[in-house]
Amino acid sequence: MAVNNAKIYGVEKYIDFVVGDFLQLAPSLKGNVVFLSPPWGGPSYKKMENFTLNLLKPVDGYSLFQVAQTIAPNIIMFLPRNVDVCQVEELSWLSSPPLNFEIEENYVRGFLKGVTAYFGNTGY
Ligand SMILES: C[S@@+](CC[C@H](N)C(=O)[O-])C[C@H]1O[C@@H](n2cnc3c(N)ncnc32)[C@H](O)[C@@H]1O
Repeated sequence: MAVNNAKIYGVEKYIDFVVGDFLQLAPSLKGNVVFLSPPWGGPSYKKMENFTLNLLKPVDGYSLFQVAQTIAPNIIMFLPRNVDVCQVEELSWLSSPPLNFEIEENYVRGFLKGVTAYFGNTGY
């Protein structure tokens, strides 16, 4: 599906598609930015007042972030709209000095669907 989408937008020649388990592939990857769009653990996330990072799959958000940091200095995470934003910001403190942090709310037809958190060089 990703290849098909890339073809539609005419950008497939700029992309190397790698299919596999992110946690196994990570040691062989290097880049400028990692975009993480991890599973939120199913529809039950909607019922929670505060979605905490330990609920992310396949591993908790802290571990996922740390793995991403071995690949790139800049990390982007797409997260549920009810995520605990203070906890997300804490991820930026895992680096010394702390990474720049920005959070963006994502609306579709007026409904808040998710949030995107930017760590590192946030001037994308
Ligand atoms: C919320 S979806 C992201 C969808 C994607 N952003 C898109 O627009 O199609 C989470 C995805 O993570 C994948 N996933 C879960 N564990 C993974 C792992 N260990 N390695 C690679 N992908 C994984 C799932 O198969 C699922 O497609």
